[in-house]
Amino acid sequence: MRTILMDGDPGHDDTVAFLLALAFPERFRIAGFTTVAGNSTAKNCTGNILKVMDYLGVSIPVAAGYESPLVRELDTAAKYHGETGLDGLLSYPPAVSRPLAKHAIEFLKETILSSKEKITLVTMGPLTNIAVLLKTWPQVLEKIEEIVMMGGSFASGNSLAKSEFNMYADPEAAKIVFDSDAKITMATIEACFSGGLLLTEQETLKDGGKVSRLVYDILKYYSRYAVKNGWDRTAVFDMTTILYLLSPEIFSWRDMKVDIELSGAHTRGMTVCDDRGPTYLAEPENPRRVLLGAEREEVAKLFFAGMHALDQRFE
Ligand code: RIB
Ligand code: CA
Repeated sequence: MRTILMDGDPGHDDTVAFLLALAFPERFRIAGFTTVAGNSTAKNCTGNILKVMDYLGVSIPVAAGYESPLVRELDTAAKYHGETGLDGLLSYPPAVSRPLAKHAIEFLKETILSSKEKITLVTMGPLTNIAVLLKTWPQVLEKIEEIVMMGGSFASGNSLAKSEFNMYADPEAAKIVFDSDAKITMATIEACFSGGLLLTEQETLKDGGKVSRLVYDILKYYSRYAVKNGWDRTAVFDMTTILYLLSPEIFSWRDMKVDIELSGAHTRGMTVCDDRGPTYLAEPENPRRVLLGAEREEVAKLFFAGMHALDQRFE
C-alpha cells in the first residue's frame, strides 16, 4: 500500500489516471489531489476533478495550486482538452464540492510532514507546485519516497520537436525539481505512446458500467486527434504513472542523468537525457529512471481490470 499525492492539470488523461489509482485501494491510499495551471487554468482543473469526484460520490481532499508558471506565460492546451480543460464531460453536472481553503503547497507540506509513512508524489502537469514546495520546505524531501511523473521525452516532443508539454509549460519549475535530491521516475512521451489504448479497446467502454461509460466519454473527446491522424491508439499520458506503480515490470527504462533545457531557441523544456555512457560521462549520482516503453497488452489488461473494479464499486 502506497500513500500517494496526485498533482495535475485535469485534463482528460489526468482524470483517467486518478480513476485508475482509485480502482486499486489495496495498492494506493490517495491522500489528496492538488491542481496546477497547465491544460487549463488551475480554477478549471480544480472544478474538473471535483466534478468527477462528486459524480462518483468520492471525497478526497482537493487543493488548488498555482495559476501560472514560475516565469513563463501560461500557455494552456485548450486545443486538446477544450476551453474547460475537460470538454469531454461538458454534459455532466458541475462540481458542488469545494476545494480546501488552503493553497496546494500548504496542503502538500502539511500532508507530507504529518504522514507516518513516506509519500509518493504522482505528478501529471507542470511542476510549478512541486518546485515551490521543495524550495520553500526542503525538509519534505525526507518524507518523499519518490516522484513518479508524466513528463519529458527521450527523443521526441509534442509542444516542440523535442519538448513535452509539462516540461515546456514551466521549464524553470522542472529544473528546480530535477536539481533536487528527490528520486524521480519519468514516464516519457515514448513510454506513453508505447502503452497507449487502442481505439477499438476504448469503444468497448461504452457497454460497461457507470465508470466505464464516464471514461468512454472522456476518451471519446481526448482521442479526436488519434482518429484525425489515423493512429490506432491514444496515449493516455498521465495514467502511465499509475500503471508503472502498479506493475513496473511491464515497462522498459534506462537510468540516466537528465537536465532541463531553459534557454534553447528551439528546445525550451527539453529533458536532455544523457545516454553517453561511462566513456564520456561519470556515473551520475542520482540518475533519473526514464521509462522508454511498455508492454501494451499488459497495459490494457491493467486498465480494464481497473475499469471493471470501478464499475463494481460505483453503480
Ligand atoms: O504531454 C502530455 C501531458 O500534457 C499530460 O500530462 C497532459 O495532461 C498534458 O498536461
Ligand atoms: Ca496532465
